[in-house]
Amino acid sequence: MKLTKEEQAMLDGEFGAGVQLAMKIQVAIGEAYDAPYMVPVSRTHVALSNQEADLWFAEKLVAGGATCRVLPTVNPSFNWEQLSCVTKLEPEDEAIVKRTHAAYNALGAIMTYDCTPYLEKNVPRFGEICSFSESSCTPFMNSVYGARTNREAAQSALCAAVTGVVPYYGYLLDENRKGEILVHVEADMENDFDYQLLGYFAPQKIGFKLPVFTGLKNPTKESLMNLGAQLNTGGNVAMYHIVGFTPEAPTIEAAFHGEEVREEVTITNDDLRSMQSMLTDPYGKIDFALFGCPHLTIDQIGVIAEMVRGQKLAVPLFVMTSGLSLDLAKKMGYEETIRQAGGHIFSDTCMDQPCWKFLYGKKGVTDSPKCAYYTRRRQMEFVVVPLEQAVEAALRGEIQGYRK
Ligand code: F3S
Repeated sequence: MKLTKEEQAMLDGEFGAGVQLAMKIQVAIGEAYDAPYMVPVSRTHVALSNQEADLWFAEKLVAGGATCRVLPTVNPSFNWEQLSCVTKLEPEDEAIVKRTHAAYNALGAIMTYDCTPYLEKNVPRFGEICSFSESSCTPFMNSVYGARTNREAAQSALCAAVTGVVPYYGYLLDENRKGEILVHVEADMENDFDYQLLGYFAPQKIGFKLPVFTGLKNPTKESLMNLGAQLNTGGNVAMYHIVGFTPEAPTIEAAFHGEEVREEVTITNDDLRSMQSMLTDPYGKIDFALFGCPHLTIDQIGVIAEMVRGQKLAVPLFVMTSGLSLDLAKKMGYEETIRQAGGHIFSDTCMDQPCWKFLYGKKGVTDSPKCAYYTRRRQMEFVVVPLEQAVEAALRGEIQGYRK
């Protein structure tokens, strides 16, 4: 790769061992993808996982004297102070949270601990070159904003944050942003949940191709968050277009860069309903409700608050959100309403963390296929239904109707 003098100096160790390691990794990625050179990034997001391997890498950079040039926002770990009101945490789990916090703080990260930074604190402009990890982030950045990021790992995004550059390849190039398959959505798409199902199902029909959706009318930001999260969980789709809606797809022709459409598929209501039946565990009695994978927006928290206002939940209800949205929920009275009903709102917390051990072996209800997917390995069962239906189930303690 052709490097600038400063990039070469980083690679040669003149900025310390931590920066050198980060640049070595960036160069190796660039060579693997035939990138000709590096380009500067102006935003980064690191999907820290709060697990040993993640921590090992972050601490290695810290020990090598690295700090971030482009300060990244970071993914949630878990908020042990808030969680301690519902469970007793293992000292080793609390210790890793504290070590992770210390390492990323030393690197200079912006400690947002949320998985939807593109909605609140790390919002790009059209065409901005970024380095974002986390499943819902990459598609939202590329598709909804028209910013440019590859599907980064937590570590490669952290390297970009440290060096301030990324290899020029993949979705940063115009030619890799053109549509590859036209997806006619004939399903009714009645609510945000249908976008969860569409995102999880579509990769079964389109594989790794960049989809161009038609038939989607003015999706909400929550729908788009859900669509991206599931496209990147059910498959490996880091970018899509919606004709007449996303910025690089005013027309079908523009979405395909003027090239002929070679492949088309159709997705129907039946496809989405059969996807739901594959994702959900059988209906019946539930032990808890869990929302916020990805983190709920303040509007979604408002929906829950209105539904439980003045009532008592039959089972505990847990909401995960960003620190900013929790703050808003407190100011707007939502947090108090949900708490009075027997629910809890936690910030900084991810579903895929050891703080949920007290739910292992139990059955919950959620609106998130991603949540159900990640927790199978932890012997948690989930009925997966739209948000409103899930809150009703939490009020009754069971969900009736369809059974697997
Ligand atoms: Fe967010 Fe963790 Fe789910 S990062 S999307 S809560 S698995």
